[in-house]
Parts: sequence; structure tokens; C-alpha cells
Amino acid sequence: MRRSNTLLGLLLVLSLICETTWAVSGSSSCKQRKMTALRPHSVSITEFGAIGDGVTLNTIAFQNAIFYLRSFADKGGAQLFVPAGKWLTGSFSLISHLTLSLDKDAVILGSTDSIDWPLIDPLPSYGRGRELPGERHQSLIHGSNLKDVVITGDNGTIDGQGSVWWDWFHNKNLNYTRPHLVEFINSTGVVISNLTFSNSPFWAIHPVYCSQVHVQRVTILAPLDSPNTDGIDPDSSTDVCIEDCYISTGDDIIAIKSGWDEHGISYARPSSNINIYRILGRTGDGAGIAIGSEMSGGVSEVRAEDIHLFDSKHGIRIKTSAGRGGYVKNILVSDVIMENVDMAIMITGQYGEHPDEQYNPNALPLIERITIKDVVGTNIRLAGLLNGIEGDDPFEVCLSNIMFNVSSELPWNCSSITGYSDMVSPNVCEPLRRVPEDSSVCYSTDSQGSSSLLVL
Ligand SMILES: *[C@@H]1O[C@H](CO)[C@@H](O)[C@H](O)[C@H]1NC(C)=O
Ligand SMILES: *[C@@H]1O[C@H](CO)[C@@H](O)[C@H](O)[C@H]1NC(C)=O
Ligand SMILES: *[C@@H]1O[C@H](CO)[C@@H](O)[C@H](O)[C@H]1NC(C)=O
Ligand SMILES: *[C@@H]1O[C@H](CO)[C@@H](O)[C@H](O)[C@H]1NC(C)=O
Ligand SMILES: *[C@@H]1O[C@H](CO)[C@@H](O)[C@H](O)[C@H]1NC(C)=O
Ligand SMILES: *[C@@H]1O[C@H](CO)[C@@H](O)[C@H](O)[C@H]1NC(C)=O
Repeated sequence: MRRSNTLLGLLLVLSLICETTWAVSGSSSCKQRKMTALRPHSVSITEFGAIGDGVTLNTIAFQNAIFYLRSFADKGGAQLFVPAGKWLTGSFSLISHLTLSLDKDAVILGSTDSIDWPLIDPLPSYGRGRELPGERHQSLIHGSNLKDVVITGDNGTIDGQGSVWWDWFHNKNLNYTRPHLVEFINSTGVVISNLTFSNSPFWAIHPVYCSQVHVQRVTILAPLDSPNTDGIDPDSSTDVCIEDCYISTGDDIIAIKSGWDEHGISYARPSSNINIYRILGRTGDGAGIAIGSEMSGGVSEVRAEDIHLFDSKHGIRIKTSAGRGGYVKNILVSDVIMENVDMAIMITGQYGEHPDEQYNPNALPLIERITIKDVVGTNIRLAGLLNGIEGDDPFEVCLSNIMFNVSSELPWNCSSITGYSDMVSPNVCEPLRRVPEDSSVCYSTDSQGSSSLLVL
């Protein structure tokens, strides 16, 4: 604390050229992409024989409607409208230049028969399904190699009816990895807005190998005890913006990923420029803002701001392990309120979970310039469990202006960790009281959308 004051006011700005038009604006909002005007052509799912009674399976109607709309792709695209009703369906795939638009009282229901969720190849950066080896079930709403796709609605609902999948998981009756509710692979220009997503079998929204992804004003709901029901998981994706969401699920609210051990290392597709603003939520078993545990392709340039978490197990969490390789660097989480959170800040290098025996235990992750600042927490049990990997370079963390009301008598537990702190209560663990030899440990961003290094 005393030594930190001697450094106060020193500001080193290292501008990074921001080449993307997707950069954040100064007001901490996603820069709006030039939205495609209303699609010149629109059809209703009822024109393709769909019946919104909650019982009739409408997979063929969705597939036929989307097949028909292919011919409008080069004419400004088309809209598929889903009116009020309960539309039961299996998995279907979107096309480029399509808007899937739900009415306020429209509910798309995922089939409860696993046969309606076909199998697809595992992701190359995972080498296998995340839960089980081999193929995996395709998401309810799927998109591969697309451009300019919108899923929106007047707060209509996409309900995965995931409880059958959670039961299969608990009873060990799964044959393949569970499906997501929405997955986009290798797609660019994806907008997901103004909808409620509920009861996903697995992670709800999963953009992987994507760029220019905008998730805005969505509600994501799943029971607090439902297994692995992450909210939004940007994975090996760049230029992602998530804002104004309410997410209450069983696992991580938002988890940033980039592939798994040797598969993620060789695929080498990082996640970067991920911006997250104004998220309210809670999670039964996960964290509010998580990075990892799959981060082998690297994660950098993450900014999460205005995060309000309550009744949750973890607040901010970085999960990694020997064998992951990769890096997590240039991360800023700021303006956080936590209420009734068991463990506020968790950084673990012992997460474990490997895809197979082929991983290289000497592939150690680089964790540096992780800044967490302006955090208030009430009814917190542990302030921080910060454990790097013995024998690896210590993880570099910077904590600033953090005030937790904690119940544990040992609020901080640190090992293989280094960094800096300023105005942290309760008094932080010894390794973080030191002034770092290299001042670049603290990461910040300026208001122009470029990045800078801030030495407090
Ligand atoms: C990704 O999508 C683009 C089209 O947008 C396509 O040209 C490319 O082959 C795709 N890459 C892979 C690995 O499928
Ligand atoms: C959308 O619907 C959900 C419930 O389905 C509700 O909790 C939420 O408040 C609604 N959001 C808006 C913006 O109306
Ligand atoms: C797994 O396979 C068995 C045997 O083919 C089948 O009876 C069961 O329904 C499958 N489980 C799921 C969740 O698809
Ligand atoms: C989402 O809702 C907001 C607020 O009602 C509205 O301004 C915006 O245009 C909507 N977005 C889309 C894509 O419908
Ligand atoms: C902190 O917790 C104590 C009890 O543990 C309580 O008396 C106090 O009011 C709390 N302070 C704040 C700011 O919540
Ligand atoms: C610190 O955390 C480690 C790992 O979770 C645990 O083994 C150890 O007992 C803890 N130490 C204290 C003093 O709580």
C-alpha cells in the first residue's frame, strides 16, 4: 500500500492500433454494426406447414423454409418469421443473409428426442466432444460458414427443454456430448438480440471460430442446479460484443474459451477483442465472468465492465492447467458488484480435465496482465483463491480499488502468483503487495478503443 502510492499517477500509454471497425466506442457500448435494413423478403413458418401446437414436430418446415430462402441471399437476404405459438422442432441450420425473427409470444421448443439432434464432427480445437469422445449433437439452431445472420425477436423464447439431457447426463445415458442451444461455427457478422433462451441442454450460445458477433439484450435462463448450462461462450472468436443481458444459469454466465490442450494448441485460434458490458446475473456452480478452462489457443484483449452478480458460487474466474499451453493476457474486469458470492476472485492453475492422454504436461499457460478493479462485494466468503502452477512463471495479477465484506478468517490464499495491488480490502496476500519488476503487469484500456498499459 505504502509503496504503491509512490507509483500513483504514472501512466504509460501504449497504443495498440485497432484495425477493426468493431472496436468499442468510448461510452462502453458495443459499436453498432451497420445493421442490415429490413430484409426485402419475408416468409412465415406457417407457409411451410408448421403447426404451433407444441406437439407437432416442425423440423422439416424449418428446413424447407430456409431452403426456399436460399434464393434471396443475393437479393438482400430474407426473414423467416415465427408467429405466436409453440413450435416444436429438432435441429435446423441457418443460411447467410437470413434473419430469424420471433414474435413476442413465439416459443421455439427443442425436441426431447435425441434423434432430432443429429451428430456432427467434433471441433478441431477440441479434438473430440467436450463431454465424451467422438462426435457431438448439433445445436438446435446451427450455423456454419455464414455471413450476416440475425436471430432476434420481441423477447420471444427459444427453449431447449434441456431437462431430458440433464437427466441423461446424471444417469450416464449420454452417448455423445450434449448440444448447445445456438452454435455458430466459422461465421462472421452474427447478431443475437431481444430474445429469451431457456433450458439449454449444454452451453446456451456458442460462437466458435467466428468474428463480429453481437449479443444484445438477451435473457438466458436455466435452473441453478442444471449441469454445464453456461450462458454465452465465445470460443476462438474475435470482435465479440455482449451487452445488456440477464443470465441466470447452472454454470458460467459468460466463459471465454479457445480450444483444449494439444488440439487447441495446434489449431491455434485465439479469442481476442471480447467486450462485455452491463451483465446482471447469477450462477449455481459457475462464475460470472470466466476464462477457460479451455484456453489453449490463447485469450487476450478482454474488457468486462459493469458486471452485477448475486447469489453465485464464483465471481471472476480464470481456469487453466499444465497441458493447456496458450495464454490469457490483457484482461480488464472493472465496475463489478457482487452480492452473496461464495468466492469472489478465483484464479486456478490446477483445473485439470484433459481431452486424452496425449496432452503435453510441460505445455504451461502464460497468465499475465490480468487487471481487476473497482469491485465491491458484500456477503462474500473468500475474497480470492489465486493459485498459479508451481514451476511455471507466476501468474501476473493486478488488483485495484476492491472492497469485500468477507466472512472467512483467511480471505486470500495465494501461491505461484505475482503482481500488484492498490486499495484492496481485506488486506491482500503478501505476493500481491510487492511492486512488480516489470510495470506492464497492469492492463487498462483508454476511452478511444485502443489499449494501454496503466501503472497505478
Ligand atoms: C469458413 O467460412 C468461409 C466462408 O465464409 C469458407 O470460405 C471457409 O472455407 C470456411 N473455413 C472452414 C475451415 O470451413
Ligand atoms: C423477456 O422474457 C423473460 C421471461 O421469458 C423476462 O424474464 C424478461 O424480463 C423479458 N425481458 C424483457 C426485456 O421484456
Ligand atoms: C444411447 O444409445 C442407446 C443404445 O443405442 C439408446 O438406447 C439411447 O437412447 C441413447 N441415448 C441417447 C441420449 O440418445
Ligand atoms: C431490440 O429491442 C430494442 C428495444 O426495444 C430495439 O430498440 C431494437 O431495435 C431491437 N432490435 C432488434 C434487432 O429488433
Ligand atoms: C459487513 O458484514 C458485517 C457482518 O459480517 C455487517 O455488520 C456489515 O454491515 C457489513 N458491511 C457492509 C458494508 O455490508
Ligand atoms: C490454500 O488453497 C490451497 C488450494 O486450494 C489449499 O490446499 C490450502 O489448504 C489453502 N491454504 C490455506 C491457508 O487456506
